[in-house]
Amino acid sequence: MSEAKATMRIGIIGGGLMGREAASAFGRWFVLEDVPVRTELVAVCDLQDKLLEWFRKVPTVKLLTKDHRELLPSPDVDVVYVALPHNLHEKIYLDVLAAGKDLLAEKPFGIDLRAARVIRNAAAKSGRFVRCSSEFPFLPGAQRIITACQPGEIAKLGKLLEIRSCFWHASDLDPTKPINWKRQNKFCGEIGVMGDLGMHVVHIPFRLGWKPKRVFAQLQKIYPQRPDGKGGMAACDTWDNAMLHTDVDIGEQHDVPMRLEMKRLAPGSTNTWWLEVLGTDGGLRFSTAEPKSLWTFQRGKEQIWQRVDLGHQMAFPVITGGIFEAGFPDCFLQMWAAFTAERAGVLDHRFGCVTPDEAVASHELFAAALESHKAKCVVEL
Ligand SMILES: NC(=O)c1ccc[n+]([C@@H]2O[C@H](COP(=O)([O-])OP(=O)(O)OC[C@H]3O[C@@H](n4cnc5c(N)ncnc54)[C@H](O)[C@@H]3O)[C@@H](O)[C@H]2O)c1
Repeated sequence: MSEAKATMRIGIIGGGLMGREAASAFGRWFVLEDVPVRTELVAVCDLQDKLLEWFRKVPTVKLLTKDHRELLPSPDVDVVYVALPHNLHEKIYLDVLAAGKDLLAEKPFGIDLRAARVIRNAAAKSGRFVRCSSEFPFLPGAQRIITACQPGEIAKLGKLLEIRSCFWHASDLDPTKPINWKRQNKFCGEIGVMGDLGMHVVHIPFRLGWKPKRVFAQLQKIYPQRPDGKGGMAACDTWDNAMLHTDVDIGEQHDVPMRLEMKRLAPGSTNTWWLEVLGTDGGLRFSTAEPKSLWTFQRGKEQIWQRVDLGHQMAFPVITGGIFEAGFPDCFLQMWAAFTAERAGVLDHRFGCVTPDEAVASHELFAAALESHKAKCVVEL
């Protein structure tokens, strides 16, 4: 691979919470031991001066702009990471593809099902490499569950009883928390919390082939108004909490219950992503609330839940000591490593980022959930 090809040059559109998190991942890329591609952040677009100013700290950034149409034609940019409010996904993702760039999109990959399909179709037509962000599967505990649930392994768990895949937040329990774009349908989408947290809960199940056949959804809007930050109140019209009760087929086993929970009102949870798979003979549970702990269940003469302390066993090895626990910046770095490796054709057996088809499938599920909640009935997928 030539020196030029071995460096993936990145432009970011949307330098807010996630845009800066991405910059942090590229800034410590050198901790990765043997990725075939280096990354370099070269251009950033945001509307806010103070954020553009922040990116001046990154020595490789050559272009700072408020207009994404200035960033996209740059011959210095190979890949664009777009981290914008959901109402802008469709327009800007299409612009990225039209400019001939590869794309790491942010979830939910369009504000609704229609937009997701338009983006997916444009991505396929363009031939560009396109994936969507979802980082928690790259934590060691999640990777262990993925390994245990491969087709040749999952039979060891016995007959499957249930799966729960959840992402819980709690800060919205405070009714005085001011509104932002993520709490308004016009920016965030009618799917509300499902668009915000849903890709994180479906990524592993979908990749393992656990596609819901039907869904019964319970959606809640608890606070209809929030402070607007200017002394008044503003309508808060998104769904706060969503519980999707689904059935999936796994191997020979039909209609295994799989519950997907996406909550902004989950008492005490800051950013708690967790996954549990239970069978009659064995089970696994991992939660970011206990980042070092993998819980496994075994039915023997006695029934035992045991906990193993995990260290830093990553799909893409890093210099970090093997006993050190992993956190959010670590899995975000791993996700980017997976994106670059897959783009370079060397992902091999490792877990990859969400594909455009998986993103569309998530929207199909969330659209069915809206229908289910409205009619208070089960919707077939
Ligand atoms: N993967 C994750 O864990 C994760 C976490 C949070 C958010 N997200 C996703 O990332 C995306 C962005 O969320 P965020 O939390 O970073 O939001 P944010 O509000 O912190 O950042 C969005 C940025 O976009 C900028 N912006 C708005 N319109 C623009 C335009 N036309 N051109 C250029 N910049 C513009 C804003 O100024 C802001 O800085 C969303 O899709 C969200 O769902 C992902």
